[in-house]
Amino acid sequence: MENKIKRIGVLTSGGDAPGMNAAVRAVVRTALSYGVECIGIRRGWNGLINGDFVRMDSGDVSHIIEKGGTVLYTARSMEFMTEEGQKKAVNTCHLLGLDGIVAVGGDGTFRGAQALSRWGIPVVGIPATIDNDISCTQYTIGFDTACNTAIDAIDKLRDTMQSHERCSVVEVMGRQAGYLALYVGIATGATAVLIPERPVDIEADVVEKIRQARLAGTTHYMVVVAEGAGNAMEIAARIHELTGLDPRVTVLGHIQRGGSPTARDRETATRMGYEAVKALVEGRRNRIVATCDGYIVDIGIEEALSMTKQFPMDRYEVLEAVTTKIKKEVH
Ligand code: F6P
Repeated sequence: MENKIKRIGVLTSGGDAPGMNAAVRAVVRTALSYGVECIGIRRGWNGLINGDFVRMDSGDVSHIIEKGGTVLYTARSMEFMTEEGQKKAVNTCHLLGLDGIVAVGGDGTFRGAQALSRWGIPVVGIPATIDNDISCTQYTIGFDTACNTAIDAIDKLRDTMQSHERCSVVEVMGRQAGYLALYVGIATGATAVLIPERPVDIEADVVEKIRQARLAGTTHYMVVVAEGAGNAMEIAARIHELTGLDPRVTVLGHIQRGGSPTARDRETATRMGYEAVKALVEGRRNRIVATCDGYIVDIGIEEALSMTKQFPMDRYEVLEAVTTKIKKEVH
């Protein structure tokens, strides 16, 4: 069968995530293996609007698999949300002779890809965000690395909290999702975890847990707050008000978005990059690549963007079960 795709573009857009480079590398190398030329579009959708591109060969993606950030730069494009911006991007695709675009990013990136697909440009999306909040996929590139970065920071905080017998309130990213907070809370043995997926009750979810920990003999406490569940400073102030403790607040911030990707992120990104190009070459246009029970699948973009994702609340139950409990009866 004649391969109709001759040249594709690849871009990264939205908040960066560790593993984006691994995905770009896989897209470029897979394209070349099919005899397809690959053009890197810089600075996300803005790059497609402005014709900001770079030709990419095999050597251009050497030794980027281990690098955090994105060599293609990224941006959140307001202009691409307008019809005028989209028309400019379509013109760039025609001018450069692009037969398809692989867009690596999160939900906003995929809304952009959907818009482009409606203008007749074939697209495939690869999910990459530390928030793991994309409905159509069980896993998004960058989540594992961000978890490990946050865990490393919290382990260090615990050392000093333990020495000083203090309470620590740590705010992690995640936008409106609590995946990062919940996984990190479980993995660090946090005293309490606040996530946006369940109503926040400071007395029941934090103070009571601190109380139980204290009664069980603990003298330091780790409270992990998802940014979508509340403001760490305000939560610390409430803890002070209700317990007299003097919590220290740490907002981990953008450190969670950097760093060399973990094995999971490199491997997943590479498989997703491969599948994205394969989909385009095999004529499956307008798809989002996703993970499903360990497999990489691709889903039609319209369906993918209308899906909802079940938050793993069973993991919150795990957390509750293993949080320090009051010791049994003292006689
Ligand atoms: O979506 C990724 C993310 O890091 C969120 O967790 C966070 O809320 C947001 O991006 C921060 O965005 P910015 O880089 O614009 O500060």
